Amino acid sequence: MYKLIVFVVLLYVCGGFSAYVKSKRVCVIGAGIAGLSSARYLKEEGIDFTVLEATRYIGGTWRYDPRTGTDENGLPLHTSMYKHLRTNLPKPTMELRGFPLPERLPSFPSWHDYYDYLQAYAKHFKVLENIKFLHNVVLVRRIGDKWRVKHEHVITKEVFEEDYDYVLVGNGHFSKPNMPNIPGEDLFRGTIIHSHDYRVPDIFKNRRVLVVGAGPSGMDIGLDVAEVSKTLVHSHHSRINFTTPFPPNYIKKPDIKEFNETGAIFVDGSFEEVDDVIYCTGFEYDYPFLDESSGLTLNPHSVVPLYRYMVNINQPSMVVMGLVVRACLVVALDAQARYATALIKGNFTLPSRDEMMQEWQRRMDAIRERKLRDSFIHILAEKEDEYYAQLSEESGIDRVPPVMFKIRALDTQAKLENLYTYRNYEYTVIDDHTFTRKIEEKPYNKSLNI
Ligand SMILES: Cc1cc2nc3c(=O)[nH]c(=O)nc-3n(C[C@H](O)[C@H](O)[C@H](O)COP(=O)(O)OP(=O)(O)OC[C@H]3O[C@@H](n4cnc5c(N)ncnc54)[C@H](O)[C@@H]3O)c2cc1C
Ligand SMILES: *[C@@H]1O[C@H](CO)[C@@H](O)[C@H](O)[C@H]1NC(C)=O
Ligand SMILES: *[C@@H]1O[C@H](CO)[C@@H](O)[C@H](O)[C@H]1NC(C)=O
Ligand SMILES: *[C@@H]1O[C@H](CO)[C@@H](O)[C@H](O)[C@H]1NC(C)=O
Ligand SMILES: *[C@@H]1O[C@H](CO)[C@@H](O)[C@H](O)[C@H]1NC(C)=O
Repeated sequence: MYKLIVFVVLLYVCGGFSAYVKSKRVCVIGAGIAGLSSARYLKEEGIDFTVLEATRYIGGTWRYDPRTGTDENGLPLHTSMYKHLRTNLPKPTMELRGFPLPERLPSFPSWHDYYDYLQAYAKHFKVLENIKFLHNVVLVRRIGDKWRVKHEHVITKEVFEEDYDYVLVGNGHFSKPNMPNIPGEDLFRGTIIHSHDYRVPDIFKNRRVLVVGAGPSGMDIGLDVAEVSKTLVHSHHSRINFTTPFPPNYIKKPDIKEFNETGAIFVDGSFEEVDDVIYCTGFEYDYPFLDESSGLTLNPHSVVPLYRYMVNINQPSMVVMGLVVRACLVVALDAQARYATALIKGNFTLPSRDEMMQEWQRRMDAIRERKLRDSFIHILAEKEDEYYAQLSEESGIDRVPPVMFKIRALDTQAKLENLYTYRNYEYTVIDDHTFTRKIEEKPYNKSLNI
């Protein structure tokens, strides 16, 4: 009897204690790279968390789906992946921490190989058991000192509401098309799609195709289509000097003034007859589940105010992941996941709201002084390495080594020189500061891709 009482008391005390250390609950939205890497680190720290994922899959945009429009559950298809995609950054800059890409893979893997890699990652770090699939987050509200997260099972339509202490937002932002709305679109008799719905070049065989935009998608999809199309009319206003030897069917044009029934009239007055148009005009930031209680100001091209490009300054128990432009995004997401975990773990404390706000305001003022758009607040570019240094200094996480930034810089250079050959290089990390580059020995074989 005495022993029993001791046992019960012990149980009570231990239970109470573990309830105390486990008192912080974290909600992770999305099971793409942002969600998976967060899950891994939260798990390693023994933090109580749940990942809510709207589809039945992990990997987010890296899962190719031949369909467009809506999925089997009536949700808009999230992925923007196309069949021939290979990464636009070399292997060392596409790796999640401590989990190298297989040696046998080419220097710039296909989406297929990369998707397999993410599957292996999720299994290895045993995070699948923490993911609630088919749970679509529909509303996140700040109520008292908690986040009330409302999510819906996309098949049963059952609605759930739970309170969390922290929310990590990882729903991706390459899914909602940014449409340019050019006059005369309704007159045009051909087809118009956005790169989000681009899957295969085959359907453009022998057709006259107009690609709009010269960002990564515009260049990559343009060259993919030009292999089979009759002409590839490329309309853009980039001031970059592309020295790529474009094929004979490539026609460079400035911005479009308007469409008519049969083609496009450009701002220089010239006209091209075209059959199909692909808008590679980028994406909008889209956080439909956040309302004003989040304290964030949400626009299609900016999300503000964020400290360290991720912490919601007005409600610092919310972290918005992946809002860095011109960076090694995978490496950056991994660092953000570690920073967020260290924050939740209590390894460091953030500066006061005023201090964070002042720092952000200084950055914003500098952008506005230069008469740049607010969207520039998300650009890292040459500040990328400094960013990693700051994250580590503040939070104690291991620093992303400077070699990552250096590889990206040389890769960018190679892209500018020749979009057909930049993926022929193999990059090998020697140490935190140095790497070597050589021509890959085995050329990539496209027919082995799928
Ligand atoms: C075509 C294309 C090519 C790219 N190529 C490269 C490349 O070569 N190298 C590189 O580094 N980056 C590349 N990227 C960037 C890519 O977005 C990142 O590599 C990375 O996939 C971002 O991961 P994420 O987790 O932030 O978002 P995502 O991969 O988009 O994942 C978001 C997840 O959240 C889920 N979700 C969304 N809304 C909700 C909701 N309301 N409730 C629940 N779940 C939700 C989605 O279903 C999805 O699974 C590319 C992007 C695209 C579109
Ligand atoms: C692009 O190249 C042309 C011709 O080589 C040169 O005159 C021009 O200055 C270059 N522009 C930039 C932005 O480098
Ligand atoms: C569209 O505009 C071009 C250039 O002005 C013209 O040559 C062409 O005939 C027009 N197409 C139609 C169907 O009006
Ligand atoms: C938090 O700090 C502990 C102790 O220094 C360390 O072991 C752990 O890795 C840190 N966690 C993160 C996510 O940085
Ligand atoms: C690529 O792979 C296909 C399918 O295995 C093979 O038939 C073809 O010869 C290969 N091409 C090269 C250039 O190695």
